[in-house]
Amino acid sequence: MHRRIIAPGALAAASLLLAIPASAASHSPGAPGIGDPYYPYYGNGGYDVSHYDLRLTYQPATDELAGTATISARTTQDLSSFDLDFLLDVSEVQVNGAKAGFTTSGEHELVVTPQRPLAKGTPITVVVRYRGVPSTKSAYGFTTWHRTPDGAVAADEPEAAWWWFPSNDHPSDKATYDVSVAVPDGTQAISNGTLQSTSSQRGWTRYSWRQNKPQATYLATLALGKFDITTGTSEGGVPVINAYSKDLGDNDGAARASVERTGELVDWLSGYFGPYPFNSAGGYVPNTTTGYALETQTRVYYSPKQFANGSNTSVVVHELAHQWYGDSVSLKGWKDIWINEGFARYAQWLWSEHEGEGTTQELADYVYASHPADDAFWTVKPGDPGPDHQFDAAVYDRGALAIQALRNEIGDTAFFALLKGWPQQHAYGNASVADFQKYAEQVSGKPLAALFDTWLFQPVKPAAPAARAASF
Ligand code: ARG
Ligand code: ZN
Repeated sequence: MHRRIIAPGALAAASLLLAIPASAASHSPGAPGIGDPYYPYYGNGGYDVSHYDLRLTYQPATDELAGTATISARTTQDLSSFDLDFLLDVSEVQVNGAKAGFTTSGEHELVVTPQRPLAKGTPITVVVRYRGVPSTKSAYGFTTWHRTPDGAVAADEPEAAWWWFPSNDHPSDKATYDVSVAVPDGTQAISNGTLQSTSSQRGWTRYSWRQNKPQATYLATLALGKFDITTGTSEGGVPVINAYSKDLGDNDGAARASVERTGELVDWLSGYFGPYPFNSAGGYVPNTTTGYALETQTRVYYSPKQFANGSNTSVVVHELAHQWYGDSVSLKGWKDIWINEGFARYAQWLWSEHEGEGTTQELADYVYASHPADDAFWTVKPGDPGPDHQFDAAVYDRGALAIQALRNEIGDTAFFALLKGWPQQHAYGNASVADFQKYAEQVSGKPLAALFDTWLFQPVKPAAPAARAASF
């Protein structure tokens, strides 16, 4: 898709370019997408972000968000312009201290044109001043900014950032974050990482959060509303910060009974996955009507609906497992979603076994038996499900079944070494299903191409269930 229409004036301007040194002729616009085939316009080409500093103000009564994003990045090609993914109203953009041109394009592109072209490898500081009412903005016909009776929440996958900060919105460009938001006294602002400070003046309270480890844009979260914040430390020494909407009604007790076990469950998961990768853990339960949970880094998003039938430690285990599988080790492209959801589901199976509610093998046998061969379930390839099936049950359940099949093939010793080794191997980075297969072959010393193909890449029910390991 071509976003820029060449206006007649631009041709006249182009002749002026002759005055610019010859090297500038090679400068070109950064691509409007980072190159993910599932989502061609997500992320952008031409630069790599290292830090987002967001200093914002939010008014719950009107859903108005305003402030400044300061983005630290480095160019990865000679650039005449570059895009950010963003939906709110921009009033000014600066690049390295100089005012830059900007315009909108496509569904969610903010096109920034610096006064002078940028050479490859240049550190850049991009300042974006903006404001807007996020709930009035949509792209592709949807919004993932969710208003609540007393505020709003940004937490969704694969897109949530467009509604609250300009970004290179793709998990392959991870960065650290400072998120500082002023809200009216009595309202709280919750985000990722550690709470660096709170300060109050003239009726507004500012909450300043810091995420000091690389974080994918979709794992950045912001919740605004009236929350009860609890703090503690796990036995293993991980600081925990949780937050509960003061308006959870009947779900309040079960939500707390589940999420307050975060420290205990982080420590338990560390036994399988190795040391917890971040310096804070926790979750928050806003008063939303959405039904899903999301592994927002260090501060998991839970819908109150997760707790409508009583306590639910299984969902807490799932989202905390993602802190290793998904958050510290992020997918390279959205097609690699099995590494996130298959392993988070498998962690739930391990927890079920720990609780005496069925072994991982029994759960695998159940999934295999409960979907007949003609069930559409088997047509979804967990290793490459396509953008419309990324979060289908098959990615989770068939995905976990594939992990049981892998375990049975390589034996428990290699399997548990793999489970713990992977988060170390790619800590704070990105990896693909192909990388996982290669690593599993390395750890086990076995060729696994056929097994991966059968369980992850064929749109049919595998002929035999994940056989029990007989001799390990
Ligand atoms: N990764 C989330 C989970 O753990 C799934 C989120 C799906 N997204 C959505 N908008 N429903 O299960
Ligand atoms: Zn998940």
